[in-house]
Amino acid sequence: MEENRKKVLSCIQPSGMLTLGNYIGALKNWVAMQNEFDCTYAVADLHAITVRQEPAKFRQQIYSTAALLLALGIDPEKNTMFIQSHVAAHSELAWILSCYTQFGELSRMTQFKDKSAKHADNVNVGLFSYPVLMAADILLYQSDLVPVGADQKQHLEIARDIATRFNHVYGDVFTIPEPYIPKIGARVMSLQDPTKKMSKSDENINSWVAILDSKDDIIRKFKRAVTDSDNRICVSEDKPGVSNLIGIYSAVTGKSAEQVTAEFEGKGYGDFKIAVGEAVAEELKPIQERYQTFISDKKQLEDIYRQGDEKAFYAARKTLSKVKKKVGFVL
Ligand code: TYM
Repeated sequence: MEENRKKVLSCIQPSGMLTLGNYIGALKNWVAMQNEFDCTYAVADLHAITVRQEPAKFRQQIYSTAALLLALGIDPEKNTMFIQSHVAAHSELAWILSCYTQFGELSRMTQFKDKSAKHADNVNVGLFSYPVLMAADILLYQSDLVPVGADQKQHLEIARDIATRFNHVYGDVFTIPEPYIPKIGARVMSLQDPTKKMSKSDENINSWVAILDSKDDIIRKFKRAVTDSDNRICVSEDKPGVSNLIGIYSAVTGKSAEQVTAEFEGKGYGDFKIAVGEAVAEELKPIQERYQTFISDKKQLEDIYRQGDEKAFYAARKTLSKVKKKVGFVL
């Protein structure tokens, strides 16, 4: 492996079906970046237990997420693909970093505020310290770039702040990471309420498209997508529903917003919505087919992530030892 290639890291929570938002906002870039960079990708199972998970279902989702990453085209030979909880260094570094993170800065995280409002009966400490674990994920691998959707930007900023603070005390220990956020599709919105982000935890299943949804379901969900009443297909602040659909269509076809507007000149929302649904279904079809082959061979799947766990273990151990030495632990 070339030593001078930039390092990329990102993770995804296995907390339900992965959505078109995950795909357009992050996973598409994960795949695109693997040829140019030294990439490490993980299934963030530790992060997922900040909200209650049903064990049997959770286990299935972890397998399913790993299989989906492979189906997307992530090459486990070229990259490191692993399961977060299998590399204990993540939890260890998270503890150390939590001693370099202020209560006040974590209290300002919008995701914490949103999630604690949503799960008011379970505002656990893990939910609060979630960004510290995320900082540990990133900093352990000395990552330069972190491909994520716009909703993770604030968490990236805190990871940078923690790293800068630690380096200030102990010298150059961590690489300061940069977020890598797509120009189009950084925030894919709900199909039912385009002022809210598309999210797999949304109870209204018509509001989100799963990467594994059937073509019929995808088209049906787009046909029902909330728009407005003036029938003009263009990006505009007062047309969040249509703007979101244009963003999705642009992201999967590679066309600019202007080209999309020109393409649907004189056509109505009905035609446009079907076209978006068809383009999305077309893009996801080969991924869905490959997913079936990966999910039906558990042994192969386990071999792949175990190999990744091992590669991640060595890379993470190097940073963790350095951190421990700097802090003054006896090794
Ligand atoms: P998660 O699992 O919620 O989402 C995975 C990725 O998908 C992006 N995403 C979206 N992008 C655009 N529009 C949407 N509607 C949308 N929904 C989700 C997210 O921005 C993310 O990039 N905390 C992270 C997981 C994580 C992580 C990390 C990420 C754990 N450790 C280290 C980067 C680096 C999360 O909950 O993502």
